[in-house]
Amino acid sequence: MSKKSRLDFMKMKEKGEPVAWITAYDFPTASFAEQAGMDMILVGDSLGMVLLGYKGTVPVTMEECITCCKAVRRGAPNTFCIGDMPFMSYQISDEDAVYNAGRFLKEADMDAVKLEGGRRVITRIKAIADAGILVMGHIGLTPQSSGVLGGFKAQGRDPKSARDLIMDARAIEEAGAFALLLEAVPPELTEFIAKDLSIPVYSIGAGAPCDGQLLICGDMLGLFQAFTPKFVKKYANVAEIEINAFKAFIDDVKKGKFPEDQHCYHILSETAEEYQKMLEELRKRS
Ligand code: KIV
Repeated sequence: MSKKSRLDFMKMKEKGEPVAWITAYDFPTASFAEQAGMDMILVGDSLGMVLLGYKGTVPVTMEECITCCKAVRRGAPNTFCIGDMPFMSYQISDEDAVYNAGRFLKEADMDAVKLEGGRRVITRIKAIADAGILVMGHIGLTPQSSGVLGGFKAQGRDPKSARDLIMDARAIEEAGAFALLLEAVPPELTEFIAKDLSIPVYSIGAGAPCDGQLLICGDMLGLFQAFTPKFVKKYANVAEIEINAFKAFIDDVKKGKFPEDQHCYHILSETAEEYQKMLEELRKRS
């Protein structure tokens, strides 16, 4: 399977073929996603919560993102991968934003970057796009600014905030973004924006009527236990599988059932006698 490009995602939008994508932060998950035929992968800054156990995404650093992006690229060499720009990697200046976006491409071989915010980050999006880097916008519930939003709350539920999000979406397209992600907004607003823009519009918790769906791997696999957003569908309960496996291992060890003969390396048969003699001698000496 060859890696999809921006043009493939445009064609998929035109044909009405939805894009399926997940977040991944490590080699095995990325490799399994590629083997399953995932259209693209986001190395989200949600890695801070799902992988590193932070309470939110604010503490996540560029170095942590780059390390995860490199692992994901090794696991999914043929999948379009997006690096998520962490808090404070683009807030200060356009120069900072371009420099850090470039790091995702140069150091971790990402195909694109994503950043949160609408009109307030529009010069950042334009600067990154003008530098020749594919950039995806992300509006609605933007976790890095959950403090300002008053928590992890759905957005665009009243006419004023919906109008603001439509203006943000238009500005993001105008600034040169190749795609837009809507998080936790009503499907009616998602449908409006997906039809209004010519670039692909994707949803995480923003309903069906758009160009594709994203889920966080920790949520859909049942790995992240702190909370489960309303919009998540759990496709597996990996936490339960792991806990049961760990319990079975502990039980086996305590009862002397592990390891068995099949798990042991044996003495080379041609030296068996000599080996036993050597052990015998050393036992006598001690
Ligand atoms: O970091 C992430 O996984 C994200 C999603 C919440 C969209 O940005």
